[in-house]
Amino acid sequence: MTDMTKEIIALVKGDGSGPEMMAQACAVAIKAAMLDGIEIEFEETPMGWNAYEEYGDTLPQKSLDRTKKLGIVFFGGVGDPKFDNTIGIKRPEMKPEKRVLLGLRKEMDLLVNHRPVRFYEELAHLSIVKMPAQNMTQLWYRFLLQDVYLGNDDLIHLIPEEVSAKIGLKLKQDVIGNEKIVSNIAYFTRDQLVKYFRIVFSRAEEMKLPLVVIDKSNITALDTYWRLIAEEISKEFPDVSVSFQYVDAAAMLIVTNPEMFNAVIATQNLQGDILTDLANALISIGLMHSYAVNPDNGAAMFESGAGTAPTLAGKDVANPLGRILTAAMMLRHIGAPNGANAIEKAVSQVLTEGYRTGDLFQKGIDDPSKLLGTSTMGEMVLSYI
Ligand code: IPM
Ligand code: MN
Repeated sequence: MTDMTKEIIALVKGDGSGPEMMAQACAVAIKAAMLDGIEIEFEETPMGWNAYEEYGDTLPQKSLDRTKKLGIVFFGGVGDPKFDNTIGIKRPEMKPEKRVLLGLRKEMDLLVNHRPVRFYEELAHLSIVKMPAQNMTQLWYRFLLQDVYLGNDDLIHLIPEEVSAKIGLKLKQDVIGNEKIVSNIAYFTRDQLVKYFRIVFSRAEEMKLPLVVIDKSNITALDTYWRLIAEEISKEFPDVSVSFQYVDAAAMLIVTNPEMFNAVIATQNLQGDILTDLANALISIGLMHSYAVNPDNGAAMFESGAGTAPTLAGKDVANPLGRILTAAMMLRHIGAPNGANAIEKAVSQVLTEGYRTGDLFQKGIDDPSKLLGTSTMGEMVLSYI
């Protein structure tokens, strides 16, 4: 083919089973992007415990600078309890969940985290709860900055030392115990909430779907503010039907009535972290796919959000489909919609034909001859593109 456009993407292979799954997802992404005339080159920017040995840092400055420069990162996941319990004890500030993930979110200003949950009819038998009768997708949009995740890091300097000492307000990593009160700051700013809600309302309008806004506004001031801004922005979108749910009720309804969330869903940072795991686990967390984006400049991090499956590492059994579906989102973002569609279609086809990784396999129902490992599942998807 002539006229291929080259796209360089930062690649973090990650910890645990990350590298095994990412090998498959990268091969799929490269092949699929060609359908749109894009030649992807992955450039490794090591991060996580795997980077520590060589660089003495889980977020090496060089990797961070290069990632920010490239603007798009395909991320295999970081974290491994094995290292948390060795190096992490001596250097807790190096724990990659916070240092790398929150670091990248903050440095790249990744405000919105999209986590669609697709319910495949052919996997309905896996669920212990009542599943939707047909294919359906919940479009989760998680507010990814501020909240309790970044409150201390962003704001603790604003609190006079004598006050913070008195109430025991400390950065998480400084807390050793024995404090009378330990406190974290959670916060939202008006401008970020307004920006975020305009994005989710626009998305609902485009998709002609209702919007469900989740919070705990029956209790906290923070949540009340969140809901007030949502109500304010809803006036700009008279065609979008919006409803509100308290987070505890939402958790229950995801399980008892998942169809209710056949919608665009607005959720906060911490609450969304919990609810999106729950929604994905109705089928398998191994299918979780996700990305976080800076809506102002398009910088984005493509990460499945499902963790690194450290206990499966090196065994070639972790499910690569979450990473592969994440690659599809990445292709759509870089202007390769045909490749994105081809990946999603290939995954559906593989599942329809009964191929399963261990997490998707149900004894007595699924065909044992179609039980695949990480690499054979990846190769199966690749062959359908
Ligand atoms: C996620 C993860 C992260 C989060 C952790 C590892 C910092 O659980 O992306 O969902 O809580 O956001
Ligand atoms: Mn999570």
